[in-house]
Amino acid sequence: MSRGPSAGSKRNPRALDALLDEKREFPPPAPFAAQARLADPSVYQDAEDYEAYWARCAEELDWFRKWDRVLKWEPPRAEWFAGGRLNACHNCVDRHLDGPRRDKPALLWQGEPPGDKRALTYADLAAEVERWAGALGALGVRKGDRVAIYLPMIPEAAFAMLACARIGAPHSVVFGGFSADALADRINDADVKVLVTADAGWRRGVQVPLLENAARAVEKCPGIEHVLVVARELASAPDGPRPEGPPGPDGRYRWYHELAAVADGPCPPESMDAEDLLFVLYTSGTTGKPKGVAHTTGGYMTQVHSTMKTVFDLKEDDVYWCTADVGWVTGHSYLVYGPLAAGATVVMYEGAPDWPARDRIWQICAEHGVTVFYTAPTAIRAFMQWGEEWPGSCDLSRLRLLGSVGEPINPEAWMWYHRVIGGERCPIVDTWWQTETGAIMIAPLPGITHTRPGSACRPLPGIQAAVLNDAGEPVDAGYLALTRPWPAMLRTIYGDDQRYRRQYWSKWDGAYFAGDGAKRDEDGYLWLLGRVDDVLNVAGHRIGTMEVESALVSHPAVAEAAVVGKAHAVKGEAVAAFVILMGDRKGSDDLAAELKAHVSSAIGAIARPETVLFTADLPKTRSGKIMRRLLTDIAEGRALGDTSTLADRKIVASLTERYGGAA
Ligand code: WT7
Repeated sequence: MSRGPSAGSKRNPRALDALLDEKREFPPPAPFAAQARLADPSVYQDAEDYEAYWARCAEELDWFRKWDRVLKWEPPRAEWFAGGRLNACHNCVDRHLDGPRRDKPALLWQGEPPGDKRALTYADLAAEVERWAGALGALGVRKGDRVAIYLPMIPEAAFAMLACARIGAPHSVVFGGFSADALADRINDADVKVLVTADAGWRRGVQVPLLENAARAVEKCPGIEHVLVVARELASAPDGPRPEGPPGPDGRYRWYHELAAVADGPCPPESMDAEDLLFVLYTSGTTGKPKGVAHTTGGYMTQVHSTMKTVFDLKEDDVYWCTADVGWVTGHSYLVYGPLAAGATVVMYEGAPDWPARDRIWQICAEHGVTVFYTAPTAIRAFMQWGEEWPGSCDLSRLRLLGSVGEPINPEAWMWYHRVIGGERCPIVDTWWQTETGAIMIAPLPGITHTRPGSACRPLPGIQAAVLNDAGEPVDAGYLALTRPWPAMLRTIYGDDQRYRRQYWSKWDGAYFAGDGAKRDEDGYLWLLGRVDDVLNVAGHRIGTMEVESALVSHPAVAEAAVVGKAHAVKGEAVAAFVILMGDRKGSDDLAAELKAHVSSAIGAIARPETVLFTADLPKTRSGKIMRRLLTDIAEGRALGDTSTLADRKIVASLTERYGGAA
């Protein structure tokens, strides 16, 4: 474990130089600009009065009662659209039922097993969501109660989220790849009353025993009153044979399909205050304990809805696919709430991109005629590695816009995406945002912006950002700050408002500290450079080094651990762990494998270290701070950086002798 964040970007300085030499520029292709929703740069000026701008965006939603005031801002406390009343589910579902969208496909779901499919119109979606709301209601879920959702990527994940929103019960979606312990911590932190899960999911042809994990978690969650279990096979064959027997070890477990059959009935959307909690979503920070990021209703819905139109240029006949899992914020904002509020046709896929073959993603694009495609750089780098023949054999001619999110996209991946997937005719929107921001903040407007590979370009209309130094002065290279409140901003950290203030609002006066390094070029373009704190970005997933360290030291053989990120060709960063063993324990390949498995079972496979290096000691400064950048250099087999502040040079000498170049 280590204390306190280390300053400066952890990114490889050579990669950074390459990024900043990037001079290529891509204006919007003329045919795209000609049909774009936004083609006139005056939108930026029109949004200078940002309260008026966001009020115009909010008016595009359905409100039961109009707000009294757009913004009340007492840093760091924001209230957007105070006095306004609405329901997120009503905006995503009910309001589309009166016109032609009623029979428009809302969800085109593709299970991992190739034959598993479901297509739901908005009318079908409404019926499912209402049934779900009825079933949750039958379990006693009421407005304000918390519900945890631990599901694979099946339509039921969206139904359950929307049903919670309908009732006014904040949801906490936990990524299905998280371990039982990680699930239990999140359930307990938010005092969750009901857990929704499934008996299984599919991943690369193997059934994932989700219910077993869930049941192990529930043993540690005294507050859980009920567990609602979806039978995975019924997700693709709703009229198929019912599973036999009860779903779980005790009376708290209920099959969803049994409850739904008896709980049917009208279940109108609750009228929610604009500032009522919509959901909590946990994300990693710089301590061992994940943060429950709290999002409210009116501002969040306003910004996710508006960015669907401005950034993704969404049109009525688009077929939109965001590959993110519902367990991450991208799945919340751009798979469920944003696109459904905008009345889009949304593709949802359960499985892995290379199952049963490496053209799966492109097959799905071709089959459904996907027009707007949103994915992560780590996926793009994997596609690059697999080769052009996979997308090359599929018809991608319907694609018109591509998006990227989750980490800085390297120019090489950007160019490949542009050429091979986009056929050089699709603008790329590189979208910077965070779990905390709720919605896209910095991104091109695809009909206006001249994009530059590797740059997220500039803040969206209504958003203001700056690059600041420690003293809060504008600089060319420093920390990214958001210098105005925005509607989808997090309102607090669930149960820990102090941490909210300290983490995001204490560095400068009235400006939000994002935790990212950034550079602003002479034209005002922003180049995001990765995290400046002890948070890794592994395959687009945020992982706190402290979380992995505390998982490691919970193993009886481990005395001390330090975790750093090391460059990885596909994942961007991979977890590298330096471990000091107890007493006379000796390091071995077996023990390294055991420690990797231990981290997987404590957190989830995404946090599994790629390398475990045993050491007798760790390089520290004279004040006792672990020198993480030296460890990164060692893990990457690079020449060592500045060692002048090192307390004991012998430690590094012995580490490089053993692992230098080979780690
Ligand atoms: C962190 C937020 C935003 C949803 C998915 C991740 C990094 C995200 C970009 C981008 C450079 C990016 C940042 C940020 N990040 N998008 N387009 N360019 N960096 O959400 O798990 O909350 O992670 O992801 O470091 O702080 P998250």
